[in-house]
Amino acid sequence: MELTHPLNRTEFGSSDHIGNLMSEEQAMDLLRDWVKNEKLLFHMQQVGHLLKKYAESKGLPSQEVHLWHLSGLLHDADWDQWPDEHCKKIIAELEARNQDPRLIKAIASHGPRYFGVDPDSELDKMLYAFDELSGFVHAYSLMRPHGYDGMEIKGVKKRLKDKSFAAQVSRDDISDASQRAAVPVEDLIQFVIDHQLRE
Ligand SMILES: [Fe+2]
Ligand SMILES: [Fe+2]
Repeated sequence: MELTHPLNRTEFGSSDHIGNLMSEEQAMDLLRDWVKNEKLLFHMQQVGHLLKKYAESKGLPSQEVHLWHLSGLLHDADWDQWPDEHCKKIIAELEARNQDPRLIKAIASHGPRYFGVDPDSELDKMLYAFDELSGFVHAYSLMRPHGYDGMEIKGVKKRLKDKSFAAQVSRDDISDASQRAAVPVEDLIQFVIDHQLRE
């Protein structure tokens, strides 16, 4: 399998910086600076929101919830201006700002087929899992007359089988992420339906 954006590294950030996390406002400032594409910005906000809700549902302490939220918020920050350097650029920025290595590692492993870095922690795996699925369910909501209202797992699964619908979304990544996270794809879909940030 060819890696399109190989990072060729396994260590990210420094353990000296565990617990160093920028505020949500600082993350939004960085995004406003780097991301002109409103859809991409909203995608990151959606993934960040799902991770925040998931961390809360697990009863994690507020600092961890914030870590999960930031990982989603920033994971594609460099995609708009530097697609060829995705996700090297954001990793370098977060390292320069002495950010928590768990945040940087989660972002580095959000596309194992592209970056060649395996998701290890639960955060890594859930970022990978929600990334594609959030975008897919969002696309599905846009074609439904009442958006998310009345959306069911079976409708989402039917669209997943229809390869022409949202063709850019990798079905392989969705099932791979679900397996790695050991969370059935149906449960992931239901979580997205219940918690997705709406426009
Ligand atoms: Fe990405
Ligand atoms: Fe993404």
